Amino acid sequence: MQIIILENADQVAQYGAQQFVDLLNRQPDAVLGLATGSTPVALYQNLIQRYQAGEISFERASSFNLDEYLGLAGDHPQSYRHFMNSQLFNHIDIAPQNTHIPDGSTEDPLSTCEQYEADIVKAGGIDLQLLGIGRNGHIGFNEPSSSLASRTRVKTLTPDTVAANQRFFSEGEFQPRLSLTMGIGTIMEARRILLLATGETKSAAVREAVEGPVAARCPASILQMHPRATLVLDRAAASALKDVEFYEYIERENERLLHGGE
Ligand code: PGA
Repeated sequence: MQIIILENADQVAQYGAQQFVDLLNRQPDAVLGLATGSTPVALYQNLIQRYQAGEISFERASSFNLDEYLGLAGDHPQSYRHFMNSQLFNHIDIAPQNTHIPDGSTEDPLSTCEQYEADIVKAGGIDLQLLGIGRNGHIGFNEPSSSLASRTRVKTLTPDTVAANQRFFSEGEFQPRLSLTMGIGTIMEARRILLLATGETKSAAVREAVEGPVAARCPASILQMHPRATLVLDRAAASALKDVEFYEYIERENERLLHGGE
């Protein structure tokens, strides 16, 4: 696991965006694994600006999102399809048919999930998977106790996740308790993983993911087993880590080896 600690959320977004810019410039037909939630919004804004400035194109890229609410069609304002269209896809040159999000309006979730897995394989696998982390350590909607080998499937949201996401729903509005989500095994097959976490509310989950045991009670801890997983944290999200000095020392050494100097 590579742990990068930056001063604030803005720097985290910029760092994350740069990983996508570098990938797309190297490999214009890259398969991007994307995420929803508050954390990636600033990263998407950065990508939109850089697309508008002519620095990158998504014309040949494709994308797979982690998850969707089961029971919300793509045109529902709280669906993750709607989120992705409005936060990113509508502002860049990605071909709509190349963007994939599980279909929350499906009447046959089992085949929808199987097809999603097959589509990822057909696209050649995910090159760079973006992740947030839940306060309970979830990645995608893989809540604690999810099998660490799980595939795309229906998952029940914990009351904590439902509460954390309540802010997006108006009073009395139907809020789904079920989701379709890539499994942890699916996520682990991405060639590179980039997890962003900002804010003090994530610090306990980050500590468990980085310094706790690999355990289903903290799904993000499985990233300890990934050969190319990078966690990008702001100071607040890193505030509960014990070994901050060591992580910073490693990064300074990496910089020194990469760019020379003392
Ligand atoms: P957030 O969600 O970015 O809105 O904090 C992250 C997550 O729950 O995975």
